[in-house]
Amino acid sequence: MRLGLIGLGRIGSFHADTLSRLPAVDSLVVTDVVPETTKAVAERVGAAVADSPEALIRGGVDAIVIAAATNAHTELIRAGVDAGIPVFCEKPLSGDLSEAAAIARYVNDSGIPVQVGYPRRFDPAFSAARAAVESGELGWVHTVRSTTLDPAPAPRGYIETSGGIFRDCSVHDFDTVRWVTGREVVEVYATGSAKGDAFFAEFGDVATAATVLTFDDGATAVVSNTRYNPRGYDVRLELHGTGDSVAAGWSDATPLRNLEPDATWPAGPPATFFMDRLASAFHAELDAFTAVVAGQRTSPCTVDDALAVAVIAEAATLSLQQHRPVQINEVRPS
Ligand SMILES: NC(=O)c1ccc[n+]([C@@H]2O[C@H](COP(=O)([O-])OP(=O)(O)OC[C@H]3O[C@@H](n4cnc5c(N)ncnc54)[C@H](O)[C@@H]3O)[C@@H](O)[C@H]2O)c1
Repeated sequence: MRLGLIGLGRIGSFHADTLSRLPAVDSLVVTDVVPETTKAVAERVGAAVADSPEALIRGGVDAIVIAAATNAHTELIRAGVDAGIPVFCEKPLSGDLSEAAAIARYVNDSGIPVQVGYPRRFDPAFSAARAAVESGELGWVHTVRSTTLDPAPAPRGYIETSGGIFRDCSVHDFDTVRWVTGREVVEVYATGSAKGDAFFAEFGDVATAATVLTFDDGATAVVSNTRYNPRGYDVRLELHGTGDSVAAGWSDATPLRNLEPDATWPAGPPATFFMDRLASAFHAELDAFTAVVAGQRTSPCTVDDALAVAVIAEAATLSLQQHRPVQINEVRPS
């Protein structure tokens, strides 16, 4: 199959490498608004160049992968859907909830398969956690803890268009806890701090956040995020139930210094970059997308999943601003 890749920044450039190595991908065509970036990535991975997303789609591709900045996602999804080809789009659908709801409706009405990029769904330990819930071996899961700690903030320009920490970073945790437990969130309480680079406060964003989610069965999740964790890129999940307790993201690469006197774990070196920590998940995610394009499976992360996560992020943003618990029904688009 011939795939088109739109947006070649941090993640797009990484996806270019992965896509060029996938067995199902015969050829790749790439584009970015910055022509030098397009040229450099195309040369590196042996891809063809298109001058614009429109030219890329017009040139004839079997599907597109969107890794452009968040504020370009809905327009590019619409372009793929209008061309009648499957779309993979990086999270989030949009920085704006009503725009996310509109594009989800548009996709659902079209019947075109769209997969949204939540790579933890393809991490072996996170998948095993989900299987443990489904099998019943954990009993009633009453407590979930989900953590995403970035070593350092992304550049100012990225933060400016990211939609804020809940829509940009915490969404990975929100998707994980919803997917792993199979439960819907009904209430959100979030707090946070802008301490760090001045641009967080300038954009009305926070650099560190804690969110408490209440599920429809009364269970609770605690989500923890920061842009300042220089020890490493820390992605962990804990599930505690009446039958057992399990964890994902605990390995010798877990970026924590264990202060127990006799501890030999974690032995290190710590994971420092999300692309290293989740490399196999990103590969499996795009491999799954080629199966979606080939009609061999349905989307493993639909626009409805992404919209449910966007609603949680909206509730968290409102909760932080108003310093109160927010019911999901208050923010759910009609
Ligand atoms: N799933 C994940 O774990 C994950 C990780 C990182 C980023 N992301 C998402 O991927 C997206 C990109 O993030 P990034 O870190 O690579 O950002 P980035 O700023 O490094 O790169 C964005 C690129 O998109 C290009 N671009 C912007 N608008 C475009 C358009 N209309 N057409 C073509 N190219 C366009 C920019 O020139 C830039 O090269 C964001 O939406 C982000 O949320 C997801």
